[in-house]
Amino acid sequence: MRTVPLNKKKHNRKGFDCGIESLNNYLRVMASQQTLKDNTRTYVLEDAKNTSQIIGYYTLTMTFLDLTLLPRKLQKKHTNVHSAGLIARLAVDKRYFKQGYGEWLLIDSLRKLLHASETVAFPLVVVDSKEGAIEFYKKFGFESFLDMPNKLYMTISNIRKSLQKI
Ligand SMILES: CC(C)(COP(=O)(O)OP(=O)(O)OC[C@H]1O[C@@H](n2cnc3c(N)ncnc32)[C@H](O)[C@@H]1OP(=O)(O)O)[C@@H](O)C(=O)NCCC(=O)NCCS
Repeated sequence: MRTVPLNKKKHNRKGFDCGIESLNNYLRVMASQQTLKDNTRTYVLEDAKNTSQIIGYYTLTMTFLDLTLLPRKLQKKHTNVHSAGLIARLAVDKRYFKQGYGEWLLIDSLRKLLHASETVAFPLVVVDSKEGAIEFYKKFGFESFLDMPNKLYMTISNIRKSLQKI
């Protein structure tokens, strides 16, 4: 399996339904435009039986990093850093839930961000989770920012270690 950049001429964006309207709409309406503007990059996992059908997608970009929301040890280690990689969105179509695709997409997105960080360094990956998915991210080693349960981070150093084990 591999992800490919979203291609609006090929991929059936209207047919995608992860159960969260804002995530469906982003894919349908915003993702391609944002890619053209170089604001975000969206990757999709196609169904091998019908490659226009989207199993899941994620969107990557950078975000502002507020160091004061991190534990002291990390604040000290990353003084003067103000950017982090961001998994802006990640979703699986309901028809494909609970078959390991969410996990696969998360690992794939972390691989891409780790690779990017080796060219243009940033020390953390951040994700803004929907309410029901916080535990999904924690399972893979993400931790919540101080007083912000829905906003989670994982250090590039821990991502590197985790991916080496897979
Ligand atoms: C969250 C989501 C991506 C999970 O996708 P999925 O393909 O069903 O998940 P997987 O089958 O890969 O699950 C991998 C593991 O995470 C667990 N998991 C899946 N969804 C979870 C959730 N919402 N909360 C806690 N754990 C979850 C699974 O039980 C599984 O654990 P196991 O390996 O111990 O059995 C999917 O439910 C989704 O797209 N939801 C709607 C959009 C959303 O909330 N996106 C994320 C926030 S932006």
